Amino acid sequence: MPEKNETSDFDEFVKNMEEEILEEAREIYTEKTLEEAYNPKNVGELETPSGAARVTGPCGDTLQMHIKVEENKIVDCKFITDGCGASMACGSVITELVKGKTIEEAFRIENNDILSVLGGLPVESIHCSVLAVDTLRAALEDYESKSRNNNKK
Ligand code: FES
Repeated sequence: MPEKNETSDFDEFVKNMEEEILEEAREIYTEKTLEEAYNPKNVGELETPSGAARVTGPCGDTLQMHIKVEENKIVDCKFITDGCGASMACGSVITELVKGKTIEEAFRIENNDILSVLGGLPVESIHCSVLAVDTLRAALEDYESKSRNNNKK
C-alpha cells in the first residue's frame, strides 16, 4: 500500500501526464475532432440492423457500422471501432451525417464531408475518414443486397 503522499504524488503525475497528452493532441487535431473523439455519438450496435458491415482499414484497425432503413431513408446508424481517436471522431460524424438521408444520398457522402465537419485532419489520419466512408458504403451495399433477396422471395 503506498503512503498517502506517494498516492497524491502518483495522482499528480497522472494528471500532468493527461494534460501533456491533451496539449499534444490539441497541436495535431482541431477542437471539434477532440470533442467528437472524447464524446462520440452513436457508439454501439442496432438490434435488428437493415444493413451491416465491418471493414478493416490499411492501418489494420476495424470499423463496424449498422444502419436501420425505413421507407428508403436511414433512420438510425451506430458504429464501433477499435481504431484511433480520429476513427472514433469520423464514426461519430458520419453516423450523424447519414441520419435522415435516402440510400442514394448516403452513397454520395465522401470523406471530405467528414473533414469539413471536423475542420480537417492531419494527413496521416485521412485514411481514418476513408475507412468510415468505406464502412458506410459496405453497410449500404449489404442493405441493398438483402432487399434484392427479399424481393426475389
Ligand atoms: Fe487506424 Fe485511424 S483508424 S489509425
